[in-house]
Amino acid sequence: MRQTVTLTLSGAAGQIGYALLFRVASGEMFGPHTPVRVRMLEHPRAVAAAAGVAMELQDAASPLLLDVDVTADPRIGFDGANIAILVGARPRTAGMERSDLLEANAGIFGPQGAAINDVAAQDIRVLVIGNPANTNAMIAAAHAPDVPGERFTALTRLDHNRALAQLALRTGLSVGDISRVTVWGNHSRTQYPDLRHALIADMPALEVVDRAWAEGPFIDTVAARGGAIIAARGGSSVASTVSAIIDHGHLRRRGVPEGDWTSAARISDGSYGVPEGLVCSFPVISVDGRWEIVQGLEIDAFSRARIDASVAELIDERDAVRALGLLR
Ligand code: NAD
Ligand code: LMR
Repeated sequence: MRQTVTLTLSGAAGQIGYALLFRVASGEMFGPHTPVRVRMLEHPRAVAAAAGVAMELQDAASPLLLDVDVTADPRIGFDGANIAILVGARPRTAGMERSDLLEANAGIFGPQGAAINDVAAQDIRVLVIGNPANTNAMIAAAHAPDVPGERFTALTRLDHNRALAQLALRTGLSVGDISRVTVWGNHSRTQYPDLRHALIADMPALEVVDRAWAEGPFIDTVAARGGAIIAARGGSSVASTVSAIIDHGHLRRRGVPEGDWTSAARISDGSYGVPEGLVCSFPVISVDGRWEIVQGLEIDAFSRARIDASVAELIDERDAVRALGLLR
């Protein structure tokens, strides 16, 4: 057994939380030799439901599960956390304006960022899932001035996996034959799944699939997949999101296979013309557990326009949050 991990999961009684916790307890998240302490952070109205999930988690009788706590107080929930996965968010409901949604979520992610700053472990890493994930991560990071900004990420591995799956379906090859796909921008309809540098069975992807598909239906299918799943199953993706969370964690801890990269949204350092401070999806590799942006990729006019369109949406979200006085 190695060192223990304290995981804080917000929204732990929700759909994603319910599915994720059992994979954590079985060792899929941190490996089969790492004991885990789970802190479930919930909205006060769902604390009772979270206590029920905690009972079930105990009943899984995993030797890796050290203990489970439930709280509605972020300062208790994040105390000593090594990893925080922020799933709980205010969903958009009928009649809600975009600014209302951003304001409601800033009211969640601002105080959570401040609590992380004050009480989490020195090595805290934060992964935001709750939408709008990129901007929620930016807000949390802005409220945690003592935590290096690059420790805050938003999940775009789900979009990356969706891109791999569409390519495998199109070519009849395995996902394992595909590398160097990138998802740029926002985890939203404007995202840009990019095949310009991708390899399929060691061949340039654009020599294997036709360009018209790569620049049209492929992008549309991947970017609209979240909405298509909501329309089909009446709720947003759960199991595939949990798989992507686990992939993101594995790749960060163990590293991305040599010659490949993954996608994650992290604070921009100005790379590829993305304004500093925005949380944007980039091609990344893990270096000593830090997500570093892959540098030097050529960006042609098509890619430039697609990246700029998604970044423009991130700028709009940032400006709206700033105008509400919610970004410090
Ligand atoms: P859900 O409604 O089943 O669960 C959300 C949970 O969050 C609820 O239990 C709720 O009580 C809790 N919550 C609300 N406010 C909270 C707060 N202030 N503190 C702690 N918990 C709070 O939703 P879900 O299916 O689990 O999805 C959660 C979020 O993940 C949504 O915003 C969804 O859009 C997003 N999502 C993101 C991705 C991605 O790839 N980034 C993929 C799928 C879903
Ligand atoms: C997804 O990509 O499946 C979700 O982010 C969609 C959503 O709006 O919850």
